[in-house]
Parts: sequence; C-alpha cells; structure tokens
Amino acid sequence: MPLSIVKNDITTMKVDAIVNAANESLLGGGGVDGAIHRAAGPDLLKECRTLGGCRTGQAKITKGYRLPAKFVIHTVGPIWRGGSHGERDLLVSAYRSSLEVALANGCETVAFPLISAGAYGYPKDQAMKVATDTIEEFLRSHDMIVYLVLFDRTPHIIGEKPGNRH
Ligand code: AR6
Repeated sequence: MPLSIVKNDITTMKVDAIVNAANESLLGGGGVDGAIHRAAGPDLLKECRTLGGCRTGQAKITKGYRLPAKFVIHTVGPIWRGGSHGERDLLVSAYRSSLEVALANGCETVAFPLISAGAYGYPKDQAMKVATDTIEEFLRSHDMIVYLVLFDRTPHIIGEKPGNRH
C-alpha cells in the first residue's frame, strides 16, 4: 500500500493510530503535541505520566481517549543542531520505531505529522525526504496504510508557486 500525503489536522484523522511529535518527558508541549493533548482530553496526560518518558528516536503507545484515533504513538524526533549530530539517523529511528509499535499493536492505518519539522527546527524539505523514504521502505515489506499529514502550507514541497500563498 503506498504512502499518502495529505493536508489535514492530524487530530481529526480516523485511523488506528496517530503519531505525536512529542518531547522526551511525554508530558505535553506546543505544536502538534499540544493539539493532540487538547483534543484527546486530560486522560491522555494521565496515561503519559505512567510511561516514564521516551528517548529520542524511540516510541511509546497510549490510548486515543477522545480522539477519533484508537491509539496515539508518541515519538521523539531529534532537535536540529546543524545536521552533523546524528539527526538523520535519529529521525529515521523515530519513524521506524513508531511503525514497529503500530505493527505490534495491530494497527492497519497510521497517520504521521512531519516529525521535528516545527519547534525542533529540522529543515522541512529534508524532514519530508526522511519521512517518505523511511515510510516507503517499511511499506515494501509490511501491509499498512500510512498517511503523512501536512498541516501548514509548504509550497516548495507541493510545487505551489510562492505567489499563490496567502
Ligand atoms: N496536525 C498536523 N500537523 C501539525 C499540527 C496538527 N494539528 N500542528 C502542528 N503540526 P512540532 P517538533 C505540524 O513543533 O518539531 C512540542 O512542543 C507542524 O506544522 O509540533 O517535532 C513537543 O512537545 C510541523 O510541520 O513538533 C516538543 O517539545 C510538525 O507538525 C517539540 O514541540 C511538527 O512540529 C517537538 O518539535
């Protein structure tokens, strides 16, 4: 099954699991993390408190509570520090670990945000390439439907002319 790239708010996706771009504390934050916690309600934070955090490049799963998704897979992408501090490997690992956790929990449909491409500063075009390459490689040997969910306008990626932005 190919990867689908869609524009959406990930908190509205009715899939088995949405992936959260969290931080190592797993206790919430801004960006997509904040949006997921707001939409899921306070029970999500309660469960996250029991997990003991998550290392960069790894992933942990919780229920989805008030979200349309059954599960939230919390992963931690790398903070961009110029590109020569193992950022790419850690980002590949964040996607792979999330996909493995999804598989282990019987998820057939999974939606990802563009991990590390917001507050963590990973250049968007490079973040996009790592995401698509890693997910596509996984899908060559696994039967899963995966969405990469883009939230903001990214004209250099989708080929839109900058003049059309508003
Ligand atoms: N749906 C889909 N994508 C979204 C949404 C949404 N509702 N909201 C934002 N994005 P970021 P990071 C996109 O900053 O860079 C948090 O505070 C956003 O446009 O959410 O991995 C955590 O607690 C961007 O392309 O995550 C960590 O401390 C992408 O999601 C830190 O930020 C990721 O941006 C993690 O930083």
